[in-house]
Amino acid sequence: MASILNRAMLHGGDYNPDQWLSSPDILARDIELMKQAHVNCVSLAIFAWSALEPEEGVYTFDWLQNVIDRLYENGIYTVLATPSGARPAWMAQKYPEVLRVDETLHRNHYGDRHNHCYTSPIYREKVWEMDSRLSKAFGNHPGVILWHISNEYSGACYCPLCQEEFRRFLKKKYKTLDALNAAYWTGFWSHTYTDWSQIEAPVPRGEMLLHGLSVDWHRFVTQRTVDFFNWEKAAVRAGGSELPVTTNLMSFYYDLDYTKFADSLDLVSWDSYPSWRTDPRGDVAVAIHTAMAHDYMRSLKRQPFLLMENTPNQVNWKQINRLKAPGQNLLAAMQAVAHGSNSVQYFQWRQSRGGNEKFHGAVVDHYGEPDTRVFREVAEVGKTLEQLAPLCKTCPQPQVALILDRENEWAIDEACSPRKPMRYEETLESHYQAFWRLGIGVDVVSADADLTPYRLVIAPMLYMYREGVAEKLRAFVEAGGTLVGTYWSGLVDENDLCYLGPTPAGGMHEVFGVRYQEIDPLRDTDENAMTWNDKTYALHDLCELVEPLADRWVEEGEDGPTACFAANEKTAEILACYEKDFYAGYPALTVHNFGKGKAYYLASRAEDAFYVDFYTKLAGELSLSRALDADLPEGVTATLREGEGCKVVCVQNFNTEPVSISLRTPVRPFGEPDGEAVTTLSLPGYGFAFVTP
Ligand code: GLA
Ligand code: ZN
Repeated sequence: MASILNRAMLHGGDYNPDQWLSSPDILARDIELMKQAHVNCVSLAIFAWSALEPEEGVYTFDWLQNVIDRLYENGIYTVLATPSGARPAWMAQKYPEVLRVDETLHRNHYGDRHNHCYTSPIYREKVWEMDSRLSKAFGNHPGVILWHISNEYSGACYCPLCQEEFRRFLKKKYKTLDALNAAYWTGFWSHTYTDWSQIEAPVPRGEMLLHGLSVDWHRFVTQRTVDFFNWEKAAVRAGGSELPVTTNLMSFYYDLDYTKFADSLDLVSWDSYPSWRTDPRGDVAVAIHTAMAHDYMRSLKRQPFLLMENTPNQVNWKQINRLKAPGQNLLAAMQAVAHGSNSVQYFQWRQSRGGNEKFHGAVVDHYGEPDTRVFREVAEVGKTLEQLAPLCKTCPQPQVALILDRENEWAIDEACSPRKPMRYEETLESHYQAFWRLGIGVDVVSADADLTPYRLVIAPMLYMYREGVAEKLRAFVEAGGTLVGTYWSGLVDENDLCYLGPTPAGGMHEVFGVRYQEIDPLRDTDENAMTWNDKTYALHDLCELVEPLADRWVEEGEDGPTACFAANEKTAEILACYEKDFYAGYPALTVHNFGKGKAYYLASRAEDAFYVDFYTKLAGELSLSRALDADLPEGVTATLREGEGCKVVCVQNFNTEPVSISLRTPVRPFGEPDGEAVTTLSLPGYGFAFVTP
């Protein structure tokens, strides 16, 4: 029979029976409760190293065998973790090199988790031994379906071994010191390296001002982490298991470029902890942020993913850990599914009695019985997921790509940019929210992504054009695609070296029909404005002064000289101009026909309302399909999953109040082919509906 991964939605979560080995009756009780909660899958052994190898070389897997067997007998599958996210005290005591050195260049003492050195040969050997043994013992067990490699990889190590590895990474990349010096422009302030051994990782007491070095260090940290992941994966394979592998990612986690994990992962999974009822911008903003995170994670492989963790009610690590209100857990679960998740898993199944997470939400709390609000709501999620099994083989397949490029973001932040903060991710979200409100799917991809599946590509603040990026964007537009670019684009190469000549570089100034001249950063209290289609929009953060590639002349007016531009069909058409400051009258929004396509250039950061109006117009012109043929009320979105002849729309209402949606094209309730077609959808507060177009 096909793996449960391909035929059902998973429901369950992190289960840590290793914390309860002294209460043997708990397992039977948990299994009983899991059945009541419609749980079909748990993740085991995530932090169980001490229970699996209590002393060096002494392996105690019996308890785990018993748990996996008992769960399987009861129809509950196991996602089996490798325990490398935290290591036992004996190991740190005997081999201090497994402990991480932080950026003050001090070695950590034993404690916490997620703080090991990725290079240490001893840690790698210990992990190999553990992972391959686990694989041999359980990797072919019919109850085990997936490897959960480590846990939330994060952080960096600055120990001598990692520094040496960093230099090796640089030697491989640059081959010669001359090439590295040229790339980092080390002549500036006499920073020329004359020996590889002089190069150190950027740290506060050392070199932080060579931007190329800093961006390379970020790349190296990603490379080290992926390399460690691949090491663990190889260990699992060496133990004889061919089961798929995943690791739980953290959506917009800044310090890793997750796109570099995509090839190594069989399945993407991630942990979602939105600030419901906490974020001052309100829950609709939280919903939009979370939707974009789901889309970013899904786009890594453009396949369904797994929601590996979320909390049934609250976390314990934020400043204020608010409860999800009744109905919010179910809606958040359905939101994940709507964006392509094939699971809803919690951290954690049974609340710990002690330790750092004893007050973190759990399905079964210290009271221990199922008659709780949280348990009932979790069971409701499980029941709902059972009806959604056919969605497993479907996935959102957007026609729009939004470029979120992690290396680009590091480079923007490391460079002494015109203002702080530059607000890269917030800017992307401003573009994204428009599609969320329209119910149009978006993939969130890196600048290296294949753009051929898309009709519209949005590349805000794409400051860094790595090799091939300009060529690809140009080819995309030439072939008929529509591109939206903005200020602060195409200024540097992959080493943060500025391009000489016209920018956006790589000939992209010809595609946009405009050339970058200067940029004026605004204070938070400053505003400019532009009028487009009879509506005036506020502009913030940055105002770029661009020159359209047209005849340009200066006229002497009463208020001094003003720039004027010829209307010439070969160059960019000016759609809106700045209305204030000395550059009033300069273009703020342009469009240029290039090849068979079009390229828009937005020279400043507009208020959110602009993106909604702008993309509504573009969506109409490009006939982008909306999940639902309707104007969606505020706080409501609709998401389409399709595949294997099945199309399902999930409509979600993030308001606390009910909404009614009038449809231009009728829909039927999902799973009821003979159900009555309706032209009005009424959803309660926090309500949702699955419908078939
Ligand atoms: C992370 C970790 C879990 C747990 C949760 C708590 O996602 O992976 O082990 O600590 O946070 O929210
Ligand atoms: Zn190290």
